[in-house]
Amino acid sequence: MFDLLLQVDPDAACFLLLLGLQMRLCRDRPLPPCALESRDLLSSSFPLPPAPLKMAAAAATAASWLKGPRGVFRTLVRSSLSSSSSSSSWSDDLLRQMDRRDAWDRFYTAKEKGALCPGHFDWFFSYEDVSGFLLSFLQSSPAGQTQILDVGCGTSALSLGLFRDSPRQLHISCLDFSPPAIDSLQQLVRESPPPGHPLSELHCYLADATALTSTFKEGSFHLILDKGTCDTLLRCPQGPGRAKTLVSECLRVLRPTGNLLQFSDEDPDARVPFLEQAGGVKVTVKEIAHIGGICYYAYILSPDSSGTSGAVK
Ligand SMILES: C[S@@+](CC[C@H](N)C(=O)[O-])C[C@H]1O[C@@H](n2cnc3c(N)ncnc32)[C@H](O)[C@@H]1O
Repeated sequence: MFDLLLQVDPDAACFLLLLGLQMRLCRDRPLPPCALESRDLLSSSFPLPPAPLKMAAAAATAASWLKGPRGVFRTLVRSSLSSSSSSSSWSDDLLRQMDRRDAWDRFYTAKEKGALCPGHFDWFFSYEDVSGFLLSFLQSSPAGQTQILDVGCGTSALSLGLFRDSPRQLHISCLDFSPPAIDSLQQLVRESPPPGHPLSELHCYLADATALTSTFKEGSFHLILDKGTCDTLLRCPQGPGRAKTLVSECLRVLRPTGNLLQFSDEDPDARVPFLEQAGGVKVTVKEIAHIGGICYYAYILSPDSSGTSGAVK
């Protein structure tokens, strides 16, 4: 059945795999808005193929899910396509697309298609799943404005949630290279409730996360948030190299006592050595959520090796 779908429309099959990921992550718990949106998208917004094929592909994807050393997605691609004769070329194509802007543009455009107004789409988990962790992480921030960068923000509710809920004065920069994502996020910002601190600000940037120093000065941020962006780059053939560039760019625009906080499903056995090699800095790991049988981690990097990770300084 999946072979048939691949023949009908490879692009649609690729995006169904992405959507299958979201559906699987939300399977065993009450559906948050993001999951409802992804389900609606699956059932209504993709132009091809016919509905029975779409559902069969999603079911095959979900059924074959296993968590692997590079997180769920790489294993998903390998295992769900392993019986197909074209499996290696397909998994290669899919993995390659995740670092391509046009692939994300299509994803975010399809998400908004048919919707009356933009909505959030959150990778891995929702803002509410980690809001307690993040707000207490921010409690230690110094008096005055805390500079935050959300790198590869997509249309996630993470930064807008912090903007709304934190009593600290935040200056949040949300950055993504996908114009449809940034357009939608800007609209969501315009419609959002007032910030938790009257002087907090949130701005959106259309830019490449692997070339941050062309947009921001070195040493600008107290905290950089990365939810799924490094994972995206790691899961492409050229990925490890680009993911390393992402990490080093993040460290360059971080203050010496700041923290890069990556949220991921990837096991520490794989992620910690990668981060230590990419950044040459101290890495702290915290388990932050168990959702749908999957453990999610916060990887905290501090450029100041004598500093203590786990607090915004
Ligand atoms: C897995 S999604 C995560 C989105 C969001 N952080 C979330 O939690 O839902 C990865 C995001 O990274 C963005 N992205 C990938 N490569 C990028 C790059 N080189 N520069 C900027 N954004 C990038 C994609 O457009 C996408 O929005």
